[in-house]
Amino acid sequence: MVAQEWLPGLLTFFKRKDQLDFMNLGTTIIKCRHSVRKFKDTKIEEWIVRDVLECARLAPTAMNVQPWLFGAITDPELKRKIADLTDNGKFIAGAPVCFAIFGQKSAKYYLEDCCAATENIILALQSYGIGSCWVAGEKKDYAEPVRKLLKVPETYALVSILPAGFAADITLPEKKDICDITFLDTYGDE
Ligand SMILES: Cc1cc2nc3c(=O)[nH]c(=O)nc-3n(C[C@H](O)[C@H](O)[C@H](O)COP(=O)(O)O)c2cc1C
Repeated sequence: MVAQEWLPGLLTFFKRKDQLDFMNLGTTIIKCRHSVRKFKDTKIEEWIVRDVLECARLAPTAMNVQPWLFGAITDPELKRKIADLTDNGKFIAGAPVCFAIFGQKSAKYYLEDCCAATENIILALQSYGIGSCWVAGEKKDYAEPVRKLLKVPETYALVSILPAGFAADITLPEKKDICDITFLDTYGDE
């Protein structure tokens, strides 16, 4: 079957009327999320930070190893130093709180596990109306300097940095059309 033939079926699958009429809180929170790089000064309450970290802790991990360490950085000097170390994360300095997600290098799937936890933090924040922006960690030259700055043991690697706060500005990037990036059962005929 050629793409033109199965696409309408796929569209019907995703656009069933009963699904559109039903407002789902979880998926609405997911769909409302956008990276935020400009933050208001408004403080993030400590109980919210704790609840967000609780959501990080509950993320899935391969073989339930939970190979991670989560930092919540509020000290302005530390945030500025992290921002200065990064190439594309200078806005970290302006965030009321910055999460740093570290993975235990000895765990086979620490990268996947910590990415799952990072997304849990992002969505937990979003559920409180708080914006954030995933800033790269693991593949960056600044991963080690950030780890040392935060005095994290060398058995851990920085996986991601997550500055967060109430949005002062949001940009909406283009997203690929669902028809171009999904398939039902099999991708093609061959
Ligand atoms: C692994 C990863 C690394 C990223 N690193 C950065 C970064 O260093 N600086 C930055 O401004 N945004 C970074 N982003 C955010 C992306 O630029 C952003 O998610 C993308 O442009 C789509 O926009 P959206 O998050 O609003 O949907 C990163 C996102 C991911 C998933």
